[in-house]
Amino acid sequence: MMNIIVASSPSGGIGNQGKIPWKCPEDMAHFHAMTRGAVVVMGRTTWGSIGSKPLEDRINIIISSSQPTPDLGGGSGQLGPMWFKSPEDAYNTLNILSKSKLIYIIGGESIYNFFLERGLVGKIYQSIIVNAGAQFDRHFKTPAGQFDLISSEDRGSYILNILQFKNAEEEQFTNLIRRIQSNGELTMDRTGVGCRTLFGNNCLSFSLRHDKFPLATHRSIPFRHVFEELMFFLRGQTDVNILRDAGVNIWNGNTSRAALDKVGLTDVPEYTMINGYGEHWRRFGSGTGKYSDQIVALINNISDVKSGRDYSAARRLILLSWNPDKLDRCALPGCHFAYQFNYSRESDELSCFLFQRSSDVPLALMWNIATAALLTRLLNIMTNTKPGLLHVVVSNAHIYQNHAAEMEALLRSPTTTFPILRYTRDAPPAKIEDFAFVDFEVLFYRPSKTNIKLAMNV
Ligand SMILES: NC(=O)c1ccc[n+]([C@@H]2O[C@H](COP(=O)([O-])OP(=O)(O)OC[C@H]3O[C@@H](n4cnc5c(N)ncnc54)[C@H](OP(=O)(O)O)[C@@H]3O)[C@@H](O)[C@H]2O)c1
Repeated sequence: MMNIIVASSPSGGIGNQGKIPWKCPEDMAHFHAMTRGAVVVMGRTTWGSIGSKPLEDRINIIISSSQPTPDLGGGSGQLGPMWFKSPEDAYNTLNILSKSKLIYIIGGESIYNFFLERGLVGKIYQSIIVNAGAQFDRHFKTPAGQFDLISSEDRGSYILNILQFKNAEEEQFTNLIRRIQSNGELTMDRTGVGCRTLFGNNCLSFSLRHDKFPLATHRSIPFRHVFEELMFFLRGQTDVNILRDAGVNIWNGNTSRAALDKVGLTDVPEYTMINGYGEHWRRFGSGTGKYSDQIVALINNISDVKSGRDYSAARRLILLSWNPDKLDRCALPGCHFAYQFNYSRESDELSCFLFQRSSDVPLALMWNIATAALLTRLLNIMTNTKPGLLHVVVSNAHIYQNHAAEMEALLRSPTTTFPILRYTRDAPPAKIEDFAFVDFEVLFYRPSKTNIKLAMNV
């Protein structure tokens, strides 16, 4: 978790002509007490403003596009500063350090903005200096709606405000659960368990910009499992034993002998999806003499639209997993059954709109959101486009009756900042199915440890 520490005038001024234009020894003492023993991250101008000397008893990280020769401390016993060519270059080091140390972003304006724009700041410690003057050329602004003021203390020469990040994007998920609880109707369904169901325009939106990845933080979701399942689909596979061998057991229930028999697939070997996502994505309509590889078509069409070669598919960048001819030969008809993508020439971004016909919201929705976000990222890499937005609409949103007791713990569980998903290779693989788990790093993922056990209803 990364925090910001900042001192500002009441109107948000933080600096003028490369300096802090006030003297407030009490706030300085607070700054040193807070950051001692921690990691401090600053821009090159701020480094200059503190005399180009590392702050003692802290790991100093400086961001500058022109990296000087490493300073090894010159025998002073003080560790020299670590220089990085950009904040992104510092990600890996910060990710490792954040496991054992507090990280404080200490300015200036450009570095504060970088981390705030990416939603990577957990807490802001903001000192409002009472006699700060009025001349400023650098400012600090908290993004609207992203932080709650959790405490405010008058310390005489300054007021210490502490602000806590709230994950407004993930709160769309918890708010949907609350809406289902209060407005949903009791319904019966294929499992015989019974649900509270809300049918309607349940739409959630997430930013994927700057490599932000909407992996649930109110509880932990294993990214490797999301990755393995998506790659299984992208390889056109339907034999669930492949997932089981990879330690991913999420499809066991719906493809067990009993589950297949229940839907009349008595001739189908256990742990087979038959007409699952992989079949539709890579061989839609197979068995009729002709089929479509929707994934290859999607990549080609996005590339055509991006290059301007052919715009005919611009509004038809669609991936479907619903074939009425094959519904009677499915272990489970697709829930996230229709994806539409959109390329924006203005921003060079690829965005995704996912339509879910049905969602077991507490159990599966955040997983499906992670899958859609990852699919979009893989398409970004394959088509050299930037990640844009992800919109997910769930028409039939439900909570199973046997999950109702767990909802209190789920809704109480704190959320935190979404992680960054980083692709570590310089170039895309030859084919989308060639991506490997080791090509990706999930950075700054610190989900709540709340243990929420939800059994899958089959
Ligand atoms: N009141 C407070 O709490 C507080 C705290 C800190 C600073 N300040 C004040 O804020 C002012 C400095 O703020 P600032 O925004 O002008 O400067 P800054 O953020 O301290 O440093 C800017 C420099 O950092 C490097 N940098 C920033 N973003 C980068 C990126 N994405 N990639 C690569 N390098 C990057 C660049 O160095 P290169 O040019 O070398 O590439 C850039 O010129 C000063 O007046 C300072 O006194 C106030």
